[in-house]
Amino acid sequence: MQEKALAHAEANRERYLDQLLDFLRIPSVSTLPEHKADMQRTAEWLIADMKRAGFENVQIFPTAGHPIVYGDWLNAGEDAPTVLVYGHYDVQPVDPIDLWHSDPFEPDIRDGEIYARGASDDKGQAFIHIKAVESALAANGSLPVNVKVLLEGEEEIGSPNLESFVVEHKDLLAADYGLVSDGRIISAEQPSIVYGLRGLTYMEVRLRGPKRDLHSGAYGGSVHNPAQALAEIIAALHDEDGRVTIPGFYENVRELTEQERAALSEVPGGLPLWQKETGLTYPWGEPDYSILERVSARPTCEVNGIWGGFQGEGGKTVIPAEAGAKISMRLVADQDPERVAQLFADYVRELAPEGMQVEVVKHSTGWWALTPLESPAMQAAAAAYAGTWGVEPVFTREGGSIPIVATFQKELGAPVVLMGFGLDDSIHSPNEHFRVRNFNRGIDTVIRYYYALAGSA
Ligand code: BES
Ligand code: MN
Ligand code: MN
Repeated sequence: MQEKALAHAEANRERYLDQLLDFLRIPSVSTLPEHKADMQRTAEWLIADMKRAGFENVQIFPTAGHPIVYGDWLNAGEDAPTVLVYGHYDVQPVDPIDLWHSDPFEPDIRDGEIYARGASDDKGQAFIHIKAVESALAANGSLPVNVKVLLEGEEEIGSPNLESFVVEHKDLLAADYGLVSDGRIISAEQPSIVYGLRGLTYMEVRLRGPKRDLHSGAYGGSVHNPAQALAEIIAALHDEDGRVTIPGFYENVRELTEQERAALSEVPGGLPLWQKETGLTYPWGEPDYSILERVSARPTCEVNGIWGGFQGEGGKTVIPAEAGAKISMRLVADQDPERVAQLFADYVRELAPEGMQVEVVKHSTGWWALTPLESPAMQAAAAAYAGTWGVEPVFTREGGSIPIVATFQKELGAPVVLMGFGLDDSIHSPNEHFRVRNFNRGIDTVIRYYYALAGSA
């Protein structure tokens, strides 16, 4: 059965790829209001394709924002495990557009890579799941497991409507295991399974001083400049070792065990890979932790954007009335994102100079997630990668966030396997790309996973 499904996938490579290119042509940028109709169009494109693939109960659930797409195939029987697949069909904006070498919404294949916005994050990886199911159903008329697929259009804006959807549709989404392909493996030849993701608390700070922008000669020296005060606050968020200084920030942070540190130290990559990916020479941050530990198992605080005063060409002698920053914190077990938001707000208010108005706004929060390595789903996933790559996967952690993973684990009790197929694909950046070979291998790996999970490989 598995071999027939794999053979069907192999025989349909070109057709599946053409379909993916069509999917990538729809500019599903969730954050930009002008793409609202494109989001609906993408959802409709998906349900048409899922119906053709053999999914049942295929439907669009409207939300307060962009639609959720759902379909399932539940004929494997009550004894077979049920897998809930999650992916997102929305993508990040394309700017800066001038740095793209081809149109982000006219996919271009160069050197075995598909260049398009969303190619890797996450349309290409979400589509793998539709094609894996299609291959098995076309080849065998059945799957060894029950499969539910949930695709949302708001991941890149923090999934504001998804958690309530999950809570309100627990029966529809009930599953033994979750499965998400929205990440990467270590290298083209070395697969990896991510068992940890960080959470996120995203804040904005605004400082207001004088009632209007002031002449910096007429008033400079007598006014605490809001841009300077903001810089002082930001500078006070870390100590010289790169530790976050927000009081209470580390209070619930779970330390890595010696065993886990030893295992993470074996993960290939390290400084050379970091240097290649960033173009930098020296890493920064907590000296007692390796790069991988710093970016995946330690919490951080980052300035994402900062503004205030004159930004145009040339000079303008002015004291700005206002300055602001967007600041986000990546969180780890066992931090509570809401509590961290409160600690941050309290600290910033305490640091703000007297007489200056300070506003601290919370944009979004999301939970960290850890998947137990002992889960049978993790073992099946490892077998599936090994079957496709011919190399055993390593287990690692990732610094990015996919907040719905924690929600699935908490609300549905389903351990979530993170089965990424991306590489260093410039996601969120110009010239995002996804390897055709990884798209193909992804389909094969998901097929192998289903048969391994059902114990029928
Ligand atoms: N697919 C990414 C998360 C990711 C990034 C996983 C890198 C593995 C490696 C996801 O689409 C994403 O961008 N998440 C946001 C979450 C935020 C908008 C709540 C992130 O991590 O910044
Ligand atoms: Mn993603
Ligand atoms: Mn993303």
